[in-house]
Amino acid sequence: HSFFTSILNSAPPSPTKRHNKVTVVGAGNVGMAVAQTILTQDLVDELVLIDALPDKLRGEMLDLQHAAAFLPRTKIHASTEYSVTAGSDLCIVTAGARQVSGESRLNLVQRNVSLFRSIIPPLVQHSPACVILVVSNPVDVLTYVAWKLSGFPANRVIGSGTNLDSSRFRFLIADHLDVNAHDVQAYIVGEHGDSSVALWSSISVGEVPVLSFLEKQEIAYEKVTLEKIHKAVIGSADEVIRLKGYTSWAIGYSVANLARSILRDQRKVHPVSVLAKGFHGIHGGEVFLSLPSQLGRGGVIGVTNIHLTPKEAQHLRDSATAILEVQNQLPI
Ligand code: NAD
Ligand code: LAC
Repeated sequence: HSFFTSILNSAPPSPTKRHNKVTVVGAGNVGMAVAQTILTQDLVDELVLIDALPDKLRGEMLDLQHAAAFLPRTKIHASTEYSVTAGSDLCIVTAGARQVSGESRLNLVQRNVSLFRSIIPPLVQHSPACVILVVSNPVDVLTYVAWKLSGFPANRVIGSGTNLDSSRFRFLIADHLDVNAHDVQAYIVGEHGDSSVALWSSISVGEVPVLSFLEKQEIAYEKVTLEKIHKAVIGSADEVIRLKGYTSWAIGYSVANLARSILRDQRKVHPVSVLAKGFHGIHGGEVFLSLPSQLGRGGVIGVTNIHLTPKEAQHLRDSATAILEVQNQLPI
């Protein structure tokens, strides 16, 4: 450019830094919360938004572009056409119907499966090496659907799963104990939904195992409080939907947290929806549900060999059965 005078006699070498491109399908509440969190965290060089509504899409794109002076430099595109997604490293799918207050996520399945038939094949066609991260609900069933429609190996199809539920769980435990949520190690596994499983046996605060600590102190009533906290986690989304109509900020941060681990090859462990057949006695079929898994550039590196009590393992298998009951009715 004429603004600058080169200090070299020849063209500068092309940058060697890895170029990250992420596509977000669905520019609704969730898609835009994901997009804006990814932008503020400086995770990508190129961000693509896809939606079925051209005006809404262009409006959202311009609104983000107008923040360029305050954000890390990122090329933002938006289109109803999938050709702009070509060569994405990560494709995040948030398009689809959402539940109203009192409605189960599983109720959305028919509507969102037919959307996925028009979304997954063009994504795969233009980015055959990408990792697909499914957020639309019911997320576990739709991750299975995305896996089937994509033809990808299972390590490259992930559902955001209970990464969000586990964050809600950690927040509520931290709030109850008046500690920092970062110091609470606690997992919710299984379905992102009503049959989710709280892994009480492995909760610790600042490396102190909570359950055995409480047992030693014989504080029985605290166990009741912990059960109430799990119920509150299950009811969290419904409460927010009743109050503001939808959930967006927490899922936006949750997905950006997963995108960071994948794009930056962080090899961190997250509870996300993965092909769970064969783990902890789950044998009823090819089911995706959340288990603590290590994430990196290639997607799922492995599932952590966590210890479950017999009761926790049974609850996990019940959760798999609940998901499979819905999944088995699909013509896929
Ligand atoms: P929304 O209605 O605000 O947005 C959905 C968007 O999808 C709309 O902009 C719509 O135009 C778009 N869309 C519809 N059909 C499309 C198509 N064929 N191609 C591209 N885009 C299309 O809804 P929302 O609040 O953003 O929720 C989106 C989904 O995310 C819902 O299924 C919701 O249940 C789910 N969700 C999941 C989690 C989770 O933890 N997994 C959390 C919150 C919401
Ligand atoms: C959530 C959505 C609705 O916020 O699945 O949990």
